[in-house]
Amino acid sequence: MVATTKQNDTKSSVYSTRIDIPGEIRSQVNTLLNQSLATAIDLKTQIKYAHWNVKGKDFYQLHLLFDEIASEVEEFIDLIAERIATLGGKALGTARIAAKESELPEFPFDAVDGMDHVIALSDRLAIYAKSLRKNIDKTNDLGDMDTNDLFIEISRAIDKRLWFLEAHLQSSFQNKDHSNKSEE
Ligand SMILES: [Fe+2]
Repeated sequence: MVATTKQNDTKSSVYSTRIDIPGEIRSQVNTLLNQSLATAIDLKTQIKYAHWNVKGKDFYQLHLLFDEIASEVEEFIDLIAERIATLGGKALGTARIAAKESELPEFPFDAVDGMDHVIALSDRLAIYAKSLRKNIDKTNDLGDMDTNDLFIEISRAIDKRLWFLEAHLQSSFQNKDHSNKSEE
């Protein structure tokens, strides 16, 4: 049985469940999770784009690194979607919904060299990291510590992958010009 049946509430409706979290809270948590799902799916496709299209002297190691990160994000996509279903919701994870709901800008298609791709992906991982930290706070406020723990797990991994990318930009002769603009 679905808790809310109105047509335009379909996205936030939740099935009844024996889980002892009120439907209203589960619905609010699922809204956060579905936004994060859309962003993660978009992020994964953009990382694969970089994996396929990167050129230059660092091609092979970046080609492999990007694929490693994409695989990790793929695992998080599944964890997020299954948490939504666990909470009685609908995992809104089609490509169309992801493109519409993602928090990321489109990948810059004029990127060619390795560092162009590293900068573009660093910018996008930083946006997702910031969004995850907001969701950590919001799920803490809502009292769903299991989803809070999931966001923390993903956040820590995205931060680490951002380090892997930014380490390419932090050598003594490739300095501040490459830092992203999202520090304010
Ligand atoms: Fe591949």
